[in-house]
Amino acid sequence: MKWPRHYISVLDLAPGEMKRVIDLGLSMKRNYYRGKRSMDILRDRSFAVFFEKPSTRTRVSFDVAIRQLGGHPVILYASELQLARGETVADTARVLSRYVDGIIARVKKHAHLEEMARYSSVPVINALSDREHPVQVLGDLMTIKEKLGSLEGARIAFLGDGTDNVLYSLLLAAAALGLEIRVAAPQRFWPEEDVLSKARQLASESGAVIRLTEDPVEAVRGANVVYTDVWVSMGREEEAGERLRLMNPYQVNTELLENVGGSYIFMHCLPAHRGQEVTDEVIDGPNSVVWDQAENRLHIQKALLYYLYTRREEKK
Ligand code: CP
Ligand code: NVA
Repeated sequence: MKWPRHYISVLDLAPGEMKRVIDLGLSMKRNYYRGKRSMDILRDRSFAVFFEKPSTRTRVSFDVAIRQLGGHPVILYASELQLARGETVADTARVLSRYVDGIIARVKKHAHLEEMARYSSVPVINALSDREHPVQVLGDLMTIKEKLGSLEGARIAFLGDGTDNVLYSLLLAAAALGLEIRVAAPQRFWPEEDVLSKARQLASESGAVIRLTEDPVEAVRGANVVYTDVWVSMGREEEAGERLRLMNPYQVNTELLENVGGSYIFMHCLPAHRGQEVTDEVIDGPNSVVWDQAENRLHIQKALLYYLYTRREEKK
């Protein structure tokens, strides 16, 4: 395996690798009980886990995942680093990678992750940027396989913000894996052209089906996964008024879900803005899998670290 092996886009794992990591995540979950150290594959390794934006799930699940694999997390907040006083991203990455075996980073600008990767001698893993949230989506695919039995046959409807970072990773992964994905969003917030064209190019090779619509009913009809995320992602606050107004018709509520016409699961990466993109009735309802989805972040991140770090050893 080429080293350092970064994981910045969901496409940094080939489709076969994604499937292996998902299966590994499922098997780690089956063998899991709380507090147990799974294995020592990260023994004597340290990881910088870096945040430029708030986090609950990613912060805790990476910390616990690294410890359960025998490693040592060093949690860093950008506001407390010299970065906040003007040290460059490149210099920060150069220095951190002299101390730690991996950098896991949540950044405001995706370009900063790419810059870190350029200057880091250890793997850089995307813990969310304005562009993608690949570890979220790996966990989501694991959840879909866990709940539906297989990824093949998944028909995913994503509603609300067509420029959402979680959606971008989901769209690219679905396109690479040959799944069906429908995106319902106001045209003003449809995915950017470069993401769409990459997804369409992958779909032409994999057989994936990508549909873009302004009609939420059309998107959910016949879907077996209904997914939404917040309408105002971190960093988009200045567009909040326009977003809330235009995305209002895309709320996932009981009335909309009557159009699904079959069995389905409801997914949300969390945190949710209850009463905006989803109602209490839906997120707390019988089809909601959001708590398992959140738990699966722990298992999939262990699986990803296992995959990246043990494959490196194989090559030695
Ligand atoms: N889904 C997710 O990444 O949640 P946090 O922002 O709490 O990490
Ligand atoms: N799209 C959301 C995801 C949070 C996990 C955001 O970027 O704020």
